[in-house]
Amino acid sequence: MAGRVNQLINHLKGDTINTMSVQAESWHGVPQAPPDSIFKLTAAYKEDTFPQKINLGVGAYRDDEDKPWVLPVVKKVTEILLNDPGLDHEYLPITGLPSFTSAAAKLILGADSPAITGDRVASVQTISGTGANHLGALFLSRFYGFGEGGRKVWLSNPTWVNHFAIFNNVSIEPITYPYYDPDTIGLAFQPFLNTLRTAAPRCVFLLHACAHNPTGVDPTREQWGQIADVILEKGHYAFFDCAYQGFASGDLEGDAWAVREFVKRGVPLLVCQSFAKNAGLYGERVGALHVVAPTKEAAQRIKSQLSVLQRSEISNPPAHGARLVSLILNDQTLFDEWKRDIRTMAGRIIEMRKELFRLLSEELKTPGNWEHIVNQIGMFSFTGINSEASQALTEKAHVYLTTNGRISMAGLNTHNIRYFAESLDKAVRGQL
Ligand SMILES: Cc1ncc(COP(=O)(O)O)c(C=O)c1O
Repeated sequence: MAGRVNQLINHLKGDTINTMSVQAESWHGVPQAPPDSIFKLTAAYKEDTFPQKINLGVGAYRDDEDKPWVLPVVKKVTEILLNDPGLDHEYLPITGLPSFTSAAAKLILGADSPAITGDRVASVQTISGTGANHLGALFLSRFYGFGEGGRKVWLSNPTWVNHFAIFNNVSIEPITYPYYDPDTIGLAFQPFLNTLRTAAPRCVFLLHACAHNPTGVDPTREQWGQIADVILEKGHYAFFDCAYQGFASGDLEGDAWAVREFVKRGVPLLVCQSFAKNAGLYGERVGALHVVAPTKEAAQRIKSQLSVLQRSEISNPPAHGARLVSLILNDQTLFDEWKRDIRTMAGRIIEMRKELFRLLSEELKTPGNWEHIVNQIGMFSFTGINSEASQALTEKAHVYLTTNGRISMAGLNTHNIRYFAESLDKAVRGQL
């Protein structure tokens, strides 16, 4: 009997070993992927024991004490929500919380937008801005009538690096248009416009609605007007990514200007919207995709297809963050309080820009022109320093930033800005 049992155990062991070796064989071809560069930077920063170290890599707001900031209005609505006796944990509808999606559409497009009054917007709640980009890209990959230019999307050079992966994942090839001019540390406007003009008709162009990531360089209103003219002329499609409404200038309306102007002019477009930065709800993943359609009937058809796509991707979006934002957007007092909180964040960043500019150009007389620091907008600033200087800042001064010279202004505060300016000054002079 014992012999039979041992025989059986050996047989099972053999099976396990065989299964494992088959599995090892099947996954043999999976290469090790490199770590995400921003998260790698943060990990290196955390390990560094130097007392004056600074993290300027991460794109998240920090207060003057370098701490994450829970917006007071978010604290308030969290209390309201948790004390609601009717609160349950049922599924949301596939396309999201209706009171959230409709208020979110009004926030970005404007309540008096012809798209809103004409009921021509298909809005779907998404997994923050990244999810909105993904769902928008997936929708285009299924339904957009790409012209002779092929299944391609034009991205600004440079752009948020995730855009490349998001479009590659749905088999739309990303290609780039000129955007940033390193000589002026500003917008390469004419080359950008020329690309819009010479591209095949009906191309898809991804545009950052405000606070361009990573450069902080936005077109002026006059330039946006010219961009819209050419897009209309060529029958292109505008894929707007709006991750920083309100966070850029402190003004929700001003930061939505380009999107609203394009809608007014009848440019075919969609908008990806995130509440990560402007509501400080990074981890709650609150966002929306709004496809502006030519008619109400087309919007209904588009929404039905977005619902089908969403069903197989995430089934139902998460409830908590959407409920928080819905409370804020649908109550005038809470909304006014949110606007004050937004101004606090944007205002602190604008102050840091002014102080950095003052330190570099007036006090330290750092070689070069630093006006772009105050002209750029939003979370990020492209300093214009080269990769050697960026690397020296990290290796010698313990200042963590991406090698393209991009800094997150939110990582600067009244305690560390002088150390940063002095380190940058030395890096530029090659004295680090
Ligand atoms: C340009 C841009 N788009 C989209 C996002 C998406 O952010 P999230 O998915 O956290 O809303 C970001 C975040 O950094 C961004 O900078």
